[in-house]
Amino acid sequence: MRTQVGIVGAGPAGLMLSHLLHLRGIESVVIDLRTREDIEETIKAGVLEQSTVDLMTRTGVGDRLARDGFVHQGINLAFNGDLHRINMYELTGGRAVMVYAQHEVLKDLIARRLTDGGDLRFEVTGTAVDGLGGDRPTIRFEHEGRQEVLECDFVAGCDGSRTYTRHLIPDGAVRTDFFRQYPFAWFGILAEAPPSSDELIYAHSERGFALISTRSPSVQRMYFQCDPDTDPDDWSEQRIWDEIQTRVSGAGATVKSGAIFQKAILQFRSFVCEPMQYGRLFLAGDAAHTVPPTGAKGLNLAMADVHVLDRALGAYYDAKDTGLLESYTSTVLRRIWRAQHFSWWMTSMLHRFSEATDFDLRRQIAELDMVTSSTAAARTLAENYVGLPLS
Ligand code: DHB
Repeated sequence: MRTQVGIVGAGPAGLMLSHLLHLRGIESVVIDLRTREDIEETIKAGVLEQSTVDLMTRTGVGDRLARDGFVHQGINLAFNGDLHRINMYELTGGRAVMVYAQHEVLKDLIARRLTDGGDLRFEVTGTAVDGLGGDRPTIRFEHEGRQEVLECDFVAGCDGSRTYTRHLIPDGAVRTDFFRQYPFAWFGILAEAPPSSDELIYAHSERGFALISTRSPSVQRMYFQCDPDTDPDDWSEQRIWDEIQTRVSGAGATVKSGAIFQKAILQFRSFVCEPMQYGRLFLAGDAAHTVPPTGAKGLNLAMADVHVLDRALGAYYDAKDTGLLESYTSTVLRRIWRAQHFSWWMTSMLHRFSEATDFDLRRQIAELDMVTSSTAAARTLAENYVGLPLS
């Protein structure tokens, strides 16, 4: 088999890249070890930056998003006994975010790739990439009982945080990893309940962080800070609702409870590998970087990476111009480190650290006070939350 771009991983980065390349007439094959159902049903975050929404709309995969997504023009910060709204729309000259679940984005992209005749291979095993130093790398894998060899011009490593492709860039000699672990995690739930708030609430409290989000008028998404080794089975529905309520009630918010149908622990890590390319291999999305979930940047960064990679590959195939490919890492790293900083900042401002003293709590409240009372500081949060424009 032969294709132009072999894409390892059918997550947001891999599927969007395949879609964008198709629109400019470049062929790709996407492989993934998961089943299609697994990809379409795994629950992840659900906040799309303005640029992600615009990219999906502009490239013809925004119909369901426009119908089923919810535009949020502001967020609320709860701390020190009050709820403070940040009017992102006004502060950014008309930008907003869309609440629309990541697995719905994946459904839209898979459906569109298949309608367009795209080659997607699910449940592959034994993936092995060779020949990255030359100009004909290969991807070997097994699919439906057949051993396949896919010859490509380029390989895109879009295989998420449990990546195989990142490790093809020699550690130490070429690749440097930047890493931070946090001493807490999030307990995430999905519940059949009415919304507790029109807009998201990010709550700072003495018992730790809580986040009230939503998915639809009848399904709500909420999170609260917990120990990384928490076992969700130790938490009854009542205990979960009591904990969330306690963390937001200081600010006067009331949580509307209902049947919880999904519980999961989300680990907190900040990670970046540099460079994100090696010979004919280019990494995009979580294969190259992970952010803690506060601020919901993960999917959006993946989309921004492949937006740049698509244009670089386009320049190569249009005019044999390799300039944008050569500068891929430095182009995308700027946004990635901005998002790393933003996610770390939101995390550190809102969470309770195990060693926190009363000094730390008061300092956090002073910071939240600044962010909600200074227009300049509020705008900084708003601009980063709705997301930087795509380059
Ligand atoms: C959601 C997740 C986030 O990490 C966040 O900051 C806001 C919302 C969500 O899943 O709804």
